[in-house]
Amino acid sequence: MCFSWMPIAVLVIAVIAGYVYFNKPSDIYLSRPLNSTYDYIVVGAGSAGAVVANRLSEDKDTSVLLVEAGGSELGILEFEIPAGFIALQRTERDWEYYTEPQKYASRSMKEKRSYWPRGRVLGGTSNLNNMVYIRGSRHDFDHWEKEGCNGWSYKDVLPYFIKAEDFQMDEYADSGYHGKGGYQTVSESQVTELRDIYMAASEEAGYKTVDCNGENMIGFCKMQSSIRNGQRWSTAKAYLRPVMERENLHISINSIVTKIPVHADLPVGSNLQDHMFCGLPIYANVSYGIDIIKATSIKTLLQYFLFGKGYLTSSALEATLYTHSSKGDKSFYPDIQLHFLSISFDPNMAKKYNPNNLDDESIENMINSNIDASMVILPTLIHPKSRGEIRLKSTDPFDHPAIDPHYLEQKEDVNVLIEGIRVAQKLVKTKVLEKYGAKEVNLIALNPKCSHLKYDSDAFWECGIRNAAQTVYHPTSTCRMGAANDPTAVVDSQLRVKGIAGLRVVDASVMRNIPSGNTNAPSIMIGEKASDMIRGKDTVADIRAKTKNF
Ligand SMILES: Cc1cc2nc3c(=O)[nH]c(=O)nc-3n(C[C@H](O)[C@H](O)[C@H](O)COP(=O)(O)OP(=O)(O)OC[C@H]3O[C@@H](n4cnc5c(N)ncnc54)[C@H](O)[C@@H]3O)c2cc1C
Ligand SMILES: *[C@@H]1O[C@H](CO)[C@@H](O)[C@H](O)[C@H]1NC(C)=O
Ligand SMILES: *[C@@H]1O[C@H](CO)[C@@H](O)[C@H](O)[C@H]1NC(C)=O
Repeated sequence: MCFSWMPIAVLVIAVIAGYVYFNKPSDIYLSRPLNSTYDYIVVGAGSAGAVVANRLSEDKDTSVLLVEAGGSELGILEFEIPAGFIALQRTERDWEYYTEPQKYASRSMKEKRSYWPRGRVLGGTSNLNNMVYIRGSRHDFDHWEKEGCNGWSYKDVLPYFIKAEDFQMDEYADSGYHGKGGYQTVSESQVTELRDIYMAASEEAGYKTVDCNGENMIGFCKMQSSIRNGQRWSTAKAYLRPVMERENLHISINSIVTKIPVHADLPVGSNLQDHMFCGLPIYANVSYGIDIIKATSIKTLLQYFLFGKGYLTSSALEATLYTHSSKGDKSFYPDIQLHFLSISFDPNMAKKYNPNNLDDESIENMINSNIDASMVILPTLIHPKSRGEIRLKSTDPFDHPAIDPHYLEQKEDVNVLIEGIRVAQKLVKTKVLEKYGAKEVNLIALNPKCSHLKYDSDAFWECGIRNAAQTVYHPTSTCRMGAANDPTAVVDSQLRVKGIAGLRVVDASVMRNIPSGNTNAPSIMIGEKASDMIRGKDTVADIRAKTKNF
């Protein structure tokens, strides 16, 4: 027996060694001596910052310094392997923020604080995220424009989404909505049979399958992800690595920008918005979901390191669905999103990594509840009414700020999440899922705090949501964009900070309101569009002409 394993073990070691060798850190361009002045200084090499540094340094007569607080992403396997995302949390590459204790939410979390990972590394949070790539609804951007963000309507931003993209999903490649040859690879993410089961159930329940980055996002959507050849395609990989040798681009890592005397009194930190989800585990008599045994089997490792395929190439988010709540305006953006997770729920993994910061008692309950779930649906609130804030705690730039999202302060947010749960329940009751004996896991055991309430009543779910609903990690809008005379705006529609010359903000914080999708793709779009504004160039005239009737 032993001997038959030897060659395999040797092969695995050889492949891993080869992989590490060929991906050997090549950070020589990160140690060039810095100059004393530059035309542009870009602070933060995140989703948006990496794009801006790349585009500005396309002009050879322009000098650019990119300053990043964190280090390089190379040499850390979890940054390469999409399934490794969870192991990046609470490491030195994570800012590891915690919110202030929440009054209306997070009740099962340690000190009622929600945990906010954020990337502190080249590529920023695009290197820590779950790689879901969704642009948002056309109505998001049209609404920004209507509220005073001139030049940010859907028809204005679409060409920049297309420019950014190297789209690798044949099915939709020729629809006109996608780009080829851009820096950001976007590919289909499917590694289990569950994706098509979720799709069939959704179709039976009346949801059309659509390209949620195409003409119409309402319906079921096969996941598109920032993954290339089975590797996480962060903006470090996409936008920085290919251009690092440019003479006019200097990159300074492990460097924190500390300059913050107050120059203008602006509403920075207000208008904080975030998405939240509440997981519904589902029992089914199939075991297609990814679990730790499948993810670490020899077969999986060989598949990954030899062919760039298999379970490890996915963050397990294989599909999503968009719909409207009963109060939602059907001619406007959707207000409910479902994320479909293709994992078998494993309380021990949840305990080990504790991504939602559960307190000890809740972890105990989870471990003792013997949840047997081979599917998980995550109903998601995408247009919260609650507004939070981020404030400085001190003048020390190394101190974390006080983050208070005011989660679920507005009752309407809870109502929409409950309706999201009802949509998930509708899917569980389809014939497609009945075939697998699917039933929702009774969460009473998991949530003794709510067990005095009638199971499945709205009050039960409200209780569950206020205890355990968690962030989807999409905080936005704390330096919101708006008209010059808008007192809530920090930057104008050119992203210039009001009242300060020569300073722009280009990242997820300028979003007028949180978009209907996950926030990485729009952050990249903002980086692309801002670069044209700063350079005074129009690089998308061709694309605009082709998409003018979209
Ligand atoms: C766990 C997790 C999962 C997520 N999953 C998804 C997903 O699947 N799909 C999706 O679309 N979105 C997802 N997101 C959100 C998305 O990744 C972010 O919205 C997006 O990356 C934000 O980009 P940004 O450019 O605004 O900021 P960031 O990418 O966070 O960039 C900010 C950069 O600035 C640096 N920096 C900060 N302060 C300083 C300083 N003083 N000096 C120098 N440098 C500094 C930081 O280190 C960082 O590199 C997820 C987020 C998290 C945390
Ligand atoms: C740094 O300074 C040198 C010498 O003046 C110059 O040749 C080079 O282009 C500068 N690089 C950048 C990125 O500013
Ligand atoms: C799964 O459950 C369904 C419905 O109860 C049943 O018909 C089917 O035979 C079961 N399949 C397996 C593999 O147990």
